[in-house]
Amino acid sequence: MTSILLVTSSPRGAASHSTRVAKQLVRNLAAADPASEVVHRDLVRTPLPHIDPDFAAGIYRPEEERTAEQARAVTRSDAVVDEVLAADAIIIASGFINFGISSTLKAWIDHLLRAGRTFRYTNEGPEGLIQGKKVYLVVASGGVYSDGPAAQFDHAVPYLKSALSFVGLTDMEVIRVEGVAMGAEAEQAALSRAETRIAALAAA
Ligand SMILES: Cc1cc2nc3c(=O)[nH]c(=O)nc-3n(C[C@H](O)[C@H](O)[C@H](O)COP(=O)(O)O)c2cc1C
Repeated sequence: MTSILLVTSSPRGAASHSTRVAKQLVRNLAAADPASEVVHRDLVRTPLPHIDPDFAAGIYRPEEERTAEQARAVTRSDAVVDEVLAADAIIIASGFINFGISSTLKAWIDHLLRAGRTFRYTNEGPEGLIQGKKVYLVVASGGVYSDGPAAQFDHAVPYLKSALSFVGLTDMEVIRVEGVAMGAEAEQAALSRAETRIAALAAA
């Protein structure tokens, strides 16, 4: 059985391309393995709070020394970590927002990167503690950032790659739905490119 974690974060509701393509990818993967289980973390419907002093102090304190607020903050983060650890495949859908990812998705990353739980420092440098997962990043953007003059303004995909590989999530496919604000034709072409790609990925 494959356990799939779907993380959605677009602020655009039903109009979201990243959510639509990511959900289609979930359906494709589930069709290839009908015993799959899917967990959906919807970061818009149920946003994580920004990390705060209770989180920042609580994660470095032994459990028995945490205040009630610190314990709550750490428990919330533990749930994010446990969901990722329980998954075989993680599909992250992100809109390209102001040259990066949405703050809702950034909050999820902040809850996931935890010293001692998802990474640790060794004499050889930092080591990611999450292993053996497949990650699919579905990123929708108004402009084109994979190549050309705007590539230098892409603070979404390089950031997600750095943050996720830091915790050991290195086996990653990036599916871009890009140029969706460049006219109806470009939008359709971007969607059909992404759909062809996810069909191939699910069949691989
Ligand atoms: C608040 C906001 C900021 C955006 N910023 C950018 C941007 O910096 N660059 C860009 O190419 N598109 C930008 N867009 C367009 C989105 O990337 C595009 O609508 C994309 O489809 C969003 O992903 P989604 O369809 O999954 O919501 C922005 C859209 C919104 C709503």
